[in-house]
Amino acid sequence: MTRLNGKTAVITGGATGIGRAAAQRFIEEGAFVFIFGRRQEALDAAVAELGPNARAVKGSVSDPADLDRLYAAVKAERASLDIVFANAGAGSPLPLGKITAEHIDEIFNTNVKGSIFTIQKALPLMGRGGSIILTGSSAGTTGAPAFSAYSASKAAVRNLARTWAEDLKGTGIRVNVLSPGPTATELAKEALGEEGMKAFASMNPLQCMADPAEIGAVAAFLASQDSSFMTASEVAVDGGLAQI
Ligand SMILES: NC(=O)c1ccc[n+]([C@@H]2O[C@H](COP(=O)([O-])OP(=O)(O)OC[C@H]3O[C@@H](n4cnc5c(N)ncnc54)[C@H](OP(=O)(O)O)[C@@H]3O)[C@@H](O)[C@H]2O)c1
Repeated sequence: MTRLNGKTAVITGGATGIGRAAAQRFIEEGAFVFIFGRRQEALDAAVAELGPNARAVKGSVSDPADLDRLYAAVKAERASLDIVFANAGAGSPLPLGKITAEHIDEIFNTNVKGSIFTIQKALPLMGRGGSIILTGSSAGTTGAPAFSAYSASKAAVRNLARTWAEDLKGTGIRVNVLSPGPTATELAKEALGEEGMKAFASMNPLQCMADPAEIGAVAAFLASQDSSFMTASEVAVDGGLAQI
C-alpha cells in the first residue's frame, strides 16, 4: 500500500515497541518518518533498521526545548509535516496509599504535558489534510489496579482529542486517539512483569497480547485519508478488553 506516499510523519517514542512498529509501517506505506526518544542507542538501532526514510532526534517530550529541536529538524529537511503520532508514554504501578508526587509528575509530564506540547509545537508545520494521533489506553476507560496515575493520564489524553477537534475546527487537521490494550512491548514487561503480562493477556476475549505491528497498522489507517471523516474519535485496539 502507498497510502502515505510523500507524507512526513513524527512519531514520539518511535525507537521501540508500538512507535517502532508504526514507523516501519508508515515507511512501508511511503512516508518519511522522524522518530524521537531519549536513548541515543535505541534511536540509532531503529534508524539503521528503518532505512533511508527515517531520521532520529534525541530528546524528551517533557522538555519543550527538545521538542523545538525536533520540529526545527523537520522544518529544515522537509519544510512541513503531515502526521504526528504522539506515542511516547510512561506507566508504572503504585497502589492508592503509596502514590508519590514524583510518580504523578513522571507519568503526567510524559503522557499529558508531553502530548500537549508535542502537538502544540507541531501545529505551525501542519495544514489541511494533517492527522494527529494521540495514544490512549484501555486503562483510560476501565481503570486498572494500582495504575491510577497512568489510567487518569490516559483518560486525560482521550479528552484532549475531543477538545482539540473543536480548537482545530476549519483547519482541515484531524485528531484521534488510538487506545491499545495489552501489547507485547518493553513498557508492558517493565510495568507488569512476566506473570502480570500473562494475566493481562488473559483478560480480553482474544486471549492474547497484541503484536506491536497490529497497533501500527491502525495508526497507519488513522494517519491516512482512509480515515478522512474521523476526528475526535477513540479507536480501541484492545482485543475487546475495554469493550465488554
Ligand atoms: N504496551 C501496552 O500494553 C500498552 C497498552 C496501552 C497503551 N500503551 C501506550 O502505548 C505507547 C507506547 O508504549 P509501548 O508499549 O510501545 O512501550 P515502549 O516500547 O516502552 O515505548 C515507549 C517509548 O516511549 C519513549 N519515551 C518514554 N518517555 C519518553 C519521553 N519523556 N520523551 C520521549 N520519548 C519517551 C521510550 O523511549 P526512551 O525511553 O528512549 O525515551 C520508548 O521508545 C505508550 O503511550 C503507552 O502508554 C501501551
